[in-house]
Amino acid sequence: MNGQGDDLPIIAIKGVSKRYPNDVVALENISFSLEKGEFCFLTGPSGSGKSTLLRLLYCAERPTSGDIFIDGVNVKTIKQTYIPILRRRIGVVFQDFKLLQDRTVFENVALALEVIGFNRDQIALRVNKVLENLGLGGKGKRYPQELSGGEQQRVAIARAIVNRPPIILADEPTGNLDPQRTMEVLDIMDELNARGTTILFATHDERLFEGTMRRVVRLQDGRLEVEYS
Ligand SMILES: Nc1ncnc2c1ncn2[C@@H]1O[C@H](COP(=O)(O)OP(=O)(O)OP(=O)(O)O)[C@@H](O)[C@H]1O
Ligand SMILES: [Mg+2]
Repeated sequence: MNGQGDDLPIIAIKGVSKRYPNDVVALENISFSLEKGEFCFLTGPSGSGKSTLLRLLYCAERPTSGDIFIDGVNVKTIKQTYIPILRRRIGVVFQDFKLLQDRTVFENVALALEVIGFNRDQIALRVNKVLENLGLGGKGKRYPQELSGGEQQRVAIARAIVNRPPIILADEPTGNLDPQRTMEVLDIMDELNARGTTILFATHDERLFEGTMRRVVRLQDGRLEVEYS
């Protein structure tokens, strides 16, 4: 996709600012990069700009100034029609799961493959495998409201990873989960990362990365405050 070699960072954020139409400056001159295969926590208090930064990365918002490169491609200059193709390279997981309530677990996960043209047999194979891997085998026919919060989040992760994107962006994915389910989600992310997926995990909960060797990027009032590994 990039044709520019493998040594480029998979995500590069350069001097990015975001001012919302109401004049709130959510991000101010942010710069950092993620190498392929990195697992990085994005932290900072409520309102510091974590969700905004992720929204810029999956092109739900555009930066007011600065540049964002995904796989060496500047998202500012790409055509609108290219955004869905870029988004296929990025799996997104949210705090509130965002599952379709009138679709089964299987259908929620399958949708991600239907839109990119997989046939029914391929879809069944892939979806059942990912559900199995995430401990959801046998739950395919259930509806989201028939599952626990932890199970719903695993369905949302299944949906995000079923097309095997090289990047996962997670926005407070454990915010609605108890400590046990939180650990399960962290373990899943660790495993995905061990298989080469680049992960940017936003959370205000310092306990999730205390004592780990993971890289941590911290925002404060829209500025990159400290960064440590
Ligand atoms: N759509 C929007 N329009 C206007 N202002 C917004 C919008 N979304 C967020 N903001 C503002 O931008 C700032 C950053 O918000 P953001 O949601 O990125 O923070 P956050 O770090 O994700 O917070 P939280 O931990 O509560 O999720 C806040 O001041 C917020 O009020
Ligand atoms: Mg947020």
